[in-house]
Amino acid sequence: MAHSRHEHAQQSRHRPGRRRAVAALEAGDTGALPRLAALVEEAPRNPRAHFAHALALEAAKRPAEAIAAYSRALGRGRKLDAAAQRLAILLVNYSAVPPDTLDRRGLLAGLRNSNIDPYPLGRVGFAWLKSHGALAAPIALGRNAGWSAAAEAFLAHHNEVAQSDPLLLTCLEQGSNADADIELLLTAVRRVLLFSPALVERKALRALACALARQARTGDYVWFADAEEPTALGTAIKSPLLQALYTLPAPGAQIRPRTLAAMLIEAHAEAENERSLATELPSLGVLTDATSSAVAAQYENNPYPRWQRLTRPRPGAFLQDMARFVGTTPQRRPEVLIAGCGTGQQAIAAKLGYGKEARITALDLSRASLAYGARRARDYGIDHIRFVHGDILEAAGLRRRFHIIECIGVLHHMANPMAGWRALVDCLEPNGAMLIGLYSAAARQEIATLRAEIAHRGLGTDADTIRAFRRELMMDAQTRWKQTLSAPDFYGLNRCRDLLFHAHERPVKIPEIGVWLGELGLDFRGFALPEARLARFRLEHPDADPARDLDAWHAFETTYPRTFAAMYQFWCVNSRPHAA
Ligand SMILES: C[S@@+](CC[C@H](N)C(=O)[O-])C[C@H]1O[C@@H](n2cnc3c(N)ncnc32)[C@H](O)[C@@H]1O
Repeated sequence: MAHSRHEHAQQSRHRPGRRRAVAALEAGDTGALPRLAALVEEAPRNPRAHFAHALALEAAKRPAEAIAAYSRALGRGRKLDAAAQRLAILLVNYSAVPPDTLDRRGLLAGLRNSNIDPYPLGRVGFAWLKSHGALAAPIALGRNAGWSAAAEAFLAHHNEVAQSDPLLLTCLEQGSNADADIELLLTAVRRVLLFSPALVERKALRALACALARQARTGDYVWFADAEEPTALGTAIKSPLLQALYTLPAPGAQIRPRTLAAMLIEAHAEAENERSLATELPSLGVLTDATSSAVAAQYENNPYPRWQRLTRPRPGAFLQDMARFVGTTPQRRPEVLIAGCGTGQQAIAAKLGYGKEARITALDLSRASLAYGARRARDYGIDHIRFVHGDILEAAGLRRRFHIIECIGVLHHMANPMAGWRALVDCLEPNGAMLIGLYSAAARQEIATLRAEIAHRGLGTDADTIRAFRRELMMDAQTRWKQTLSAPDFYGLNRCRDLLFHAHERPVKIPEIGVWLGELGLDFRGFALPEARLARFRLEHPDADPARDLDAWHAFETTYPRTFAAMYQFWCVNSRPHAA
């Protein structure tokens, strides 16, 4: 699972008057909220009024209403970056918010905002399309009469308004669908287009096919194709646009439409660039651990996660966030290690979020992932993250001590997570802090069942096997694999490989974390969780300190096993005596 920071990580900038109102709310002055709500009523077109109201709702711990208010702010002021950022951050944790409470124009503006990760917004966008929008009728039909009939009906001539819906096209281009019904419909739409190529001569359907091609690439071509489709693609049809719905065709001078040509040129240039960057990376040497080698092979061939953009943190926001957990912030020029950095999103966010002075080292087993990250860092104008190839077990070879080490979604992929963690602690400054992310055994029970089934059947990890297995799960009465089908990672090929077909994973339990922390000389400083979860914990364990009491958290998780569905993510600090 990929790294994503929780809601409190980045507070946006707001002006003093509003800040006072929000601070008053945080201090328990409930009168401020009605005052701000009244302001919105007086000036309903004013984006800043909606923004102030949204901040106040957030401060009052009413996230669903805050999300709606941020979308209204953005709908009235498309350039309001701070609203887009808060919206994206909140939606990471509250993606189940009723989609029709959001302002559609705001959603569109957010999806197109270059300073935020579009995926959380895309998820509500798709939910909106499914419940109220262009996809509602075809999905209802698909469930009753089958997906081919639904696709035919959707592509009918008279349905141009739905086919050209800007929210649909933008979600396909910028977002990443995470809904089984929508995937089944889009897969059927693709098939109809393939076997009726004349359809894409219609302008609306050409634009739709281009957007579908982008969506297909975002998912690394995860959609299932039946036996007839590759044959049709390979022999009869020579349309790069239709091919691009199944794979990434080579660029060519004759390719039309231009948007497709541009996408292909860009994609191939990126791949070329990454191949060259991969050869230039410094390395800690050859991998000797068998599990590390198997895991490296997986990520060399399938870098994970592929990402569009990140939600740009305010400079220094991560230091503030860290201080909330560990009490102090390190010296002015913190050395930060991102151990198991994957494709760089976490490292680039760290460079921005820990501030200009922070020096970032990003370590990973996979050259392909590191090269992807190095290329993306250049996209962000950052040329001084040190990307290093190597095993965490060899972290001493970095010859550096770190004030902050982040290791999220990595240690559970090692044969001996404790050995990996120890190698990292050995590079940690006295009083240094760590942000650790580990899979929860309690939260992943359904995944464990599916992994056992995959092992039992002896399934491989090739693309076609993954596609067929996914299809089976989606066609199964959908209630059976609810948790898996609701995981965004299910909806991409490399992401699904990471979710269900991983070369090695070993989820952990809270008591085990407690033992490891003790052995490593680390003090637990609290889980990073959405505010709503923390509030529930406080309610049920009023005497426990959430930032210290792992036993109480274990009891809480036993009652609510999905609490850490997005991994245990927690801060801890080095409490070992200073080395001489
Ligand atoms: C699930 S990805 C997470 C990437 C990143 N932390 C994120 O959250 O986006 C796990 C990454 O850990 C890396 N990894 C696994 N075992 C490792 C090891 N022993 N040393 C270094 N990197 C490792 C993999 O190559 C992969 O890129």
